[in-house]
Amino acid sequence: MFDHPVLLVTCPRGWEAEARHELRRALPEAHVESLYIGGNIMVLLAGPLQEALDALHEASTSVVAHVTPVAFRLQIGRGREWLDAMREAARLYLTPPDPERSFMVAVDRRGTHQFTSEDAALAIADAFVDGGKPPVDLSSPEQVLSVEIYQDVVFMGMNEARDLLRKELRRMRRWAPGERPINRAALKLREAIEEFGLVLPPGGRALDLGAAPGGWTAELAGRMAEVVAVDSADLEERVAALPNVTHLRLRTEELDPEKMGRFDLLVNDMNMEPVQSAELLCELAPLLRPGGLAVMTIKFVTCHRRRHMVEASTALERCYEDVRISAMPHNAKETTAVMRRRAALPEAEDSAAGR
Ligand SMILES: C[S@@+](CC[C@H](N)C(=O)[O-])C[C@H]1O[C@@H](n2cnc3c(N)ncnc32)[C@H](O)[C@@H]1O
Repeated sequence: MFDHPVLLVTCPRGWEAEARHELRRALPEAHVESLYIGGNIMVLLAGPLQEALDALHEASTSVVAHVTPVAFRLQIGRGREWLDAMREAARLYLTPPDPERSFMVAVDRRGTHQFTSEDAALAIADAFVDGGKPPVDLSSPEQVLSVEIYQDVVFMGMNEARDLLRKELRRMRRWAPGERPINRAALKLREAIEEFGLVLPPGGRALDLGAAPGGWTAELAGRMAEVVAVDSADLEERVAALPNVTHLRLRTEELDPEKMGRFDLLVNDMNMEPVQSAELLCELAPLLRPGGLAVMTIKFVTCHRRRHMVEASTALERCYEDVRISAMPHNAKETTAVMRRRAALPEAEDSAAGR
């Protein structure tokens, strides 16, 4: 038996970090950890179960899917002999269902076993024949014995059906052909374009700083005539192969502005301390046509978010105007700033870029 209430939570595979973040935001006191099978998370609650379920029910989440309270965990093997062990454990550790109300055993089995999910459900249901059998209802039972099998571990909980949260997946869109982003970073740029109502000139040139593995580059290459991607790390092959993408395998500090030409858009997603990143973007402002758009992510490298935003925008305002900052839903560890190049730049920047 667990000392504290435990929840098993599912999310789409690959979205575990985002799901853990959503869970921690809704349940700040809880301990949240991923299980070794992708798309599955365990939450050890610090407080009462019902409070946590209410908080999760209320919380606005995008990738948290199913939430199942469980009461105990048992180590099992692959063989059929483990059906008896599961039944005995259910009898020992779970409160029997109310025989007057409808009931089902719901088995979710991951891994390879010599028994099926149905075998497990039938065996475990037998644990409760003595106290009078509740009517079985497989479509809308009032009580559910949840059995979650992860290869060699089984978790079980006796739940009221209403306590099994089934949250709506809002982040998992189906992409129209050709619209699937290269990575989640690409979504950040899409969101910024939507959120700020950015208009990118289709015939223009974009400079992408901190471009690897290339989500933003690919996104921009689909919307503009040419993209110069700067990063000492590799671009994904299919991005590097795009005919309108040039990869400069350099650090931004190593760029030679004299050889770059002029750009209609500057984007900066470099993993870098925000002030330093803003100062580099300022140094490169002469490469942007006056009035041209720049987009920069402000990375929250410490918990002093406000300080990072203020310091970065102060640095940016020397060379850019109309600096707007907005948090994008895709990443809580950063925020996005959008701005326009000033017509007149401070002298240092103008001469540094040789213009
Ligand atoms: C968050 S990733 C960028 C993701 C990218 N926007 C995408 O859509 O795939 C940050 C990148 O910044 C790069 N970076 C960090 N410091 C840099 C620097 N001084 N110059 C250029 N790139 C840098 C890293 O190599 C890393 O690839």
